[in-house]
Amino acid sequence: MTRDEALQLMIEHTPSEALQRHMLGVEVCMAHYAHLTNADETPYRIAGLLHDFDYELHPEEHPLWAMEYLTNQKVDYTIIRAIAAHYPAKTGIEPDSPLERTLFACDELSGFITACCYVRPERIRGLTAKSVLKKLKTANFAAGVNRDDVHRGAELLGLELSDHITNCITAMEGEANLLGLLPPD
Ligand SMILES: [Fe+2]
Ligand SMILES: [Fe+2]
Repeated sequence: MTRDEALQLMIEHTPSEALQRHMLGVEVCMAHYAHLTNADETPYRIAGLLHDFDYELHPEEHPLWAMEYLTNQKVDYTIIRAIAAHYPAKTGIEPDSPLERTLFACDELSGFITACCYVRPERIRGLTAKSVLKKLKTANFAAGVNRDDVHRGAELLGLELSDHITNCITAMEGEANLLGLLPPD
């Protein structure tokens, strides 16, 4: 499967623009980490693009529906396992490989960064790790984001949380237009 085939599959199954942008946001963070670690960016991008592609149409079965679909499509097992490991509570598969750890680490955090952008007139422009860390400590801000998962993600990458946040902001700012994170005119 190519990156563009993954994008097509994701769009076909995801009517919601917000959810499309979530997966695109995780994709750009994944690509950034592939570059930082000299890994092949294609599986990183595909795992990011597809990790929630069944969520809107098959929420109860997420991500098991996606895993079965991709297995039938003969998609590489490393990608299927990464998708399984982004939701260990449902699949029992814990993030282990660098690809799996990176997906787990970028999923919840990129959503939180997006939430931080939406309450700033400048959106992602000038957003700092310090301000994201402060909002993480505010329990009722983006309360749906699991703080333990955010901290665990940085630990899985062996990074300070502030460095992980900076990496994801840098990645997302590079595609701010695509992700809807530019200031409104
Ligand atoms: Fe998910
Ligand atoms: Fe996600």
